[in-house]
Amino acid sequence: MIKIDKTIASIVHSPTLWANDLVHEKRSRHETVYHMGFGESPFPVPERMKKALADAAHRKEYLKAEGLHELVETIKDYYRPIYGDEYINRSDVLIAPGSKLILYALQMAIEGDLLMPVPSWVSYEPQAKMLRQNVIKVPTTLDDDGYHIDPEDLRRIIHQARQEGKNPSKIILNAPNNPTGLTIPADELPDLAEICKQENIFIISDEIYGFVSFDGQYRSIAPLVPDMTAVSSGLSKHLSLGGWRIGIGFIPKGAPGLQGALRSIVSETWSCAPSPIQQACIEAYKRHKDIEDHIQACTDIHALMNQTVSEGLRGHGIIAPTVQGAFYNYPDFDPFRAALAARGIKTSHDIQETLLKDYNLATLPGKAFGAAEDVLTLRISGCDYDGAAALAAYQGGAKLDRSFIETYAPRVLKAIDVFGEFVGKNK
Ligand SMILES: Cc1ncc(COP(=O)(O)O)c(C=O)c1O
Repeated sequence: MIKIDKTIASIVHSPTLWANDLVHEKRSRHETVYHMGFGESPFPVPERMKKALADAAHRKEYLKAEGLHELVETIKDYYRPIYGDEYINRSDVLIAPGSKLILYALQMAIEGDLLMPVPSWVSYEPQAKMLRQNVIKVPTTLDDDGYHIDPEDLRRIIHQARQEGKNPSKIILNAPNNPTGLTIPADELPDLAEICKQENIFIISDEIYGFVSFDGQYRSIAPLVPDMTAVSSGLSKHLSLGGWRIGIGFIPKGAPGLQGALRSIVSETWSCAPSPIQQACIEAYKRHKDIEDHIQACTDIHALMNQTVSEGLRGHGIIAPTVQGAFYNYPDFDPFRAALAARGIKTSHDIQETLLKDYNLATLPGKAFGAAEDVLTLRISGCDYDGAAALAAYQGGAKLDRSFIETYAPRVLKAIDVFGEFVGKNK
């Protein structure tokens, strides 16, 4: 009999798995389930990318650990106007099978504990735990201006952690953010950068939703702290290519030993991202008009869907700032706390369970994103519609308005009504 490592065994994805199983079960009984639980962009693969992949099918060689040279160079050119020459020249690109592995490799390579703003994406904390590192939570505030981390709070938490014998050494910042759909305002980045510099905290900037930014602005902390920031990104979100498993990283040359450490991790684990995929992905970074238009059109539709959700939820009295990017909302049911408690609903998990069992609405509980048990938040994703049909209509000249959602995403509207029914019970 084998014994599973205790740390690994303690990492469970119960809310996601439980929701997934129940959704399948209900759908197999032909019940209508509103699916706001899983965040996968619904748009199709652009024709150019399909063709590029077909043309690259013959590529079968192992590639260099850092990635295919032409892809690496094309990516640098693509990001040069975004980050500026200095950051590009002071970093190297790393290609991986998904940015998740870049995040994991960075956490592995940099000794010490993780500062994690809350709420944050579900995988940062388990990754740190797998590496036997502590997770030090950093509070945030969420409002119509964005996702805010108070720099002085951050400094205090770093000092306190050190007094407790911990070793805070890195922070993961993610904007636009999963789960909130909010972004860190550009004018708040310099103070955060300064604290990280002063306190010797390495920044991992998760920019996987960087191009799904509803005002078209790409914000990054990387150029502010070029030697102490690594970026992770990829094509999973703005090109809806999650299953292609392609991630990109910018790794600063000025962080002593980091490049070498990552090269060792890559060569002893995944070796390289698949050759045909790397070859095909060059096309994603050549600024072809059709690809750029596709990204913009998908982002416009995400904005319509998810901002309509924010507005609809607010209309029901739920706290829901207008989202700024990605494809999520992170509603807070605190105004209904007493009435929900009277119905036995006291945690985010209770809300998730009630909505799925009694209202056929799948969501994820705030707890999965690091929130305390009794914080009454959910992550909901506005992606439950036929992306191919919606995109074709928009590209064919349809206007992005209420009737667009009625026609192409009726389940998104229905889900907003269901939230109304859920909280309306309390009135
Ligand atoms: C915030 C965030 N970061 C990173 C990832 C990982 O993306 P991938 O591994 O597909 O590049 C995801 C995927 O859902 C995400 O939401």
